[in-house]
Amino acid sequence: MAARKVLKMGHPLLLEKSHEVTQFSTKELQHLIRDLRDTMHAEEGAGIAAPQIGVMRRVVIFGVEKDNARYPGRGEISETVLINPIITPLDDTLEDGWEGCLSVPGMRGLVPRYTRVRYQGFDENGQKIDRDVDGFHARVVQHECDHLDGILYPMRIQDMREFGFKEELKDKLGC
Ligand code: NI
Repeated sequence: MAARKVLKMGHPLLLEKSHEVTQFSTKELQHLIRDLRDTMHAEEGAGIAAPQIGVMRRVVIFGVEKDNARYPGRGEISETVLINPIITPLDDTLEDGWEGCLSVPGMRGLVPRYTRVRYQGFDENGQKIDRDVDGFHARVVQHECDHLDGILYPMRIQDMREFGFKEELKDKLGC
C-alpha cells in the first residue's frame, strides 16, 4: 500500500517477459494493483506496468486526468487496470509521438505506434475489458503493454536523433 521504487533502464528485469495472471480477486493481486496505482500517482505518470516495480506479472495501469500538466492537450484517459492484455492493431496506420517512461527518467523519444488498436483483457475483478481506441490512448496502452514483453520505448525509436533529455527537447516537444 505504498509507492514503490521504480526500476530504471539497465535493470535486467525490465528486459524480461512477464507471466500471465491466473487467479483474480486474490489479496496478492489487490496489493499489487494498489502499489502500482500509488506509484503511478506519486510519480505523476500516465501509466505503469508491474515489472517496473519488479513484479513479473502481466498487469498494467494507466490513466490521464483532463488538464494534466504533463500531457497538455492530450485528452483524458479514464484510469484502467488491464490484466493479461492482448493488443490488436485495427489497421496498418502508424504515427510518431513523443514518449517518456518512469524507468527512463528525464528523457523523451519519438516513437512510432499504431494509431488505432483494440485492446482486450481483464480488470482487477476478472471482468472482461474490450475497447477500440486511437491516438494518445492507443499509444499509452502500447507503451505499457510493451513492458510486459521486456520492451522499453527507446528500443522502438527509429531515429536516435529524436531521443534526448526533456529540457533540451523543449522546442520539439512544444512545452
Ligand atoms: Ni514506461
